[in-house]
Amino acid sequence: TKLPYSFSPLCHKRNSSTSSSVQDKLVIFDTTLRDGEQSPGVTLTVDEKVEIARHLSNLGVDVIEAGFPIASQGDFEAVTRIAKEIGPLMTGREKIGKPLRIAGLARATEKDIKRCYDAVSHAPFHRIHTFLATSDIHLKYKLQISREECIKRATKAVELAKSLCEDVEFSPEDSGRSDQDFLCSILGEVIKAGATTLNIPDTVGYNTPEEYGALIKYLVENTPGGDKVIWSTHCHNDLGLATANTLSGITNGARQVEVTINGIGERAGNTSLEEVVMTIQTHPKSYPVYHTINTPLIYRTSSLVSSLSGMVVQPNKAIVGTNAFLHESGIHQDGVLKHKQTYEIIRPEDVGVFNVNLVLGKLSGRNAFRSRITDLGYGNLSDAETQKAFESFKTLADTKKRITDHDLLALISDQVSKG
Ligand code: KIV
Ligand code: ZN
Repeated sequence: TKLPYSFSPLCHKRNSSTSSSVQDKLVIFDTTLRDGEQSPGVTLTVDEKVEIARHLSNLGVDVIEAGFPIASQGDFEAVTRIAKEIGPLMTGREKIGKPLRIAGLARATEKDIKRCYDAVSHAPFHRIHTFLATSDIHLKYKLQISREECIKRATKAVELAKSLCEDVEFSPEDSGRSDQDFLCSILGEVIKAGATTLNIPDTVGYNTPEEYGALIKYLVENTPGGDKVIWSTHCHNDLGLATANTLSGITNGARQVEVTINGIGERAGNTSLEEVVMTIQTHPKSYPVYHTINTPLIYRTSSLVSSLSGMVVQPNKAIVGTNAFLHESGIHQDGVLKHKQTYEIIRPEDVGVFNVNLVLGKLSGRNAFRSRITDLGYGNLSDAETQKAFESFKTLADTKKRITDHDLLALISDQVSKG
């Protein structure tokens, strides 16, 4: 199938530096502040959301889904402030610098869509993301509408969104359990109504990589007008398959991925940004795409999200877990000392992890402390700020045997936000 992705300013092609094939840009759509915030027990203040959005912008994501503006006054304010304050920034500015797009979520109703537009439109580049369930189980029990009514509502919603905003995304919720030919019909209609991105959520994390990849391929090939839009993945992790499903989606034609930092989200969470990005980076010949994420900022962003959301990162979590680059067994330690690649497939510094072998604890001195926070990106703290952070570190070290980089970053961001 020919996929003319170049119609969007977000999507372009380049020659791979590692192979002679042409690669497409993969749009990284971060939904930490929307689907991620739907994690049980997580509530972020407006200031915290703006702070996370600033980090996401530095990290280089292409789209930030900043919230669900109709959901609450707080969500509306957060999306509005992010659109005003973070929207004009160049994303990933330390690396390449490109416009950032701010999106908001809306159900397929007039009230939701207008409220969403009122919030996101403050950003120079914005998007309305509207959704409606399409599986028979949702149509029958949740919405109590027919398939015909579903198509009518979706089309009307996309037409309204398009009258307000050039960039419109539509998601058929529970696509993973929807009838594929019905999906082709409804998606064909929303393309005619003006949708520019079609997102295919495996809402309940039901699909396997083979099924999800086949679904994307079928939709790309059989939806009328499907060659004019960007196809997007949105996978939940109920079976632990979210990353695998997302990668399978890319192999089969998706050029946007919806992800969250640390994989936070409803129930077992969403696809994690760091896993997808580092897999593509580690296997440049296996995927026909490239990303523009500033990967050395991954660890710092992960720590911030963890400390503000209160969602602890499991120690053995891929890429960002405290143990992700530690080697315990003698055989492994010996191998790594001889040559790092014996047991390391990623250089820790490529994701912002430094000095993994230098353990900080209550006996560590000021110099070791300063050197570690400099590696973590906080070398510019004043002497007074460093001293305060050092004192908090000592207090914490009295209660904990080993202070991790996640602990340090949490401690410093707390220090900096208190001014
Ligand atoms: O999982 C889901 O279906 C969603 C949609 C609202 C995109 O989060
Ligand atoms: Zn979701």
